[in-house]
Amino acid sequence: MKFFIDTANLKDIQEANELGILDGVTTNPSLMAKEGITGKDNIEKHYQKICEIVQGDVSAEVISTDYEGIVKEGTHLASLAENIVVKVPMIKDGVKAIRHFTDNGIATNCTLVFSSAQAILAAKAGATYVSPFIGRIDDTNWDGMELIKEMAEIYAIQGFETQILAASIRSSRHIVEAAKNGADVCTCPLSAILGMLKHPLTDNGLAQFLADYKKGNG
Ligand code: G3P
Repeated sequence: MKFFIDTANLKDIQEANELGILDGVTTNPSLMAKEGITGKDNIEKHYQKICEIVQGDVSAEVISTDYEGIVKEGTHLASLAENIVVKVPMIKDGVKAIRHFTDNGIATNCTLVFSSAQAILAAKAGATYVSPFIGRIDDTNWDGMELIKEMAEIYAIQGFETQILAASIRSSRHIVEAAKNGADVCTCPLSAILGMLKHPLTDNGLAQFLADYKKGNG
């Protein structure tokens, strides 16, 4: 399973990259706004900064919601750096635009996916990635992981090559469950990635080893 970081925070991206486990980055307009990045030029410069840090795929989301606008904006975003993936919402014009990008060799990430029906459409349009929002499904008292599982089954049966990118990940447990249920990629905040390191028995065991070493070696 590939690991992407879900943030526009350059420090967090750098820290995850230095861990040596980072395969890419996802962003969205809310994450950009959280970092105070506003205005077309600043947003584009920020994408370029991210692409200088990370070699892997970097998702840059379009704001347009009509076919012509999505195609124009996405084509421009894709020209900013070789590793930009155009993030397109799961709407009718978005699906049409994904087909256009696929036919023109531009990688895409179909976002805001909440059902297997939507996931089938994204795959039929040739999306590189499809992003089911796990945490937001859990928030509505459904089980986001059931969606990952069903999508993985359908994609395997149908031979779809679109990669399942588990998004809206809130914890390290979500990451484990996404891996178990067949996600190809997990995009997570730095806190969830670092949370994977934690186990009290590791901390206790290390403290004991160091204490025993100190006893024998002053
Ligand atoms: O990748 C999608 C993600 O940014 C949404 O996460 O926590 O806002 O549901 P969240």
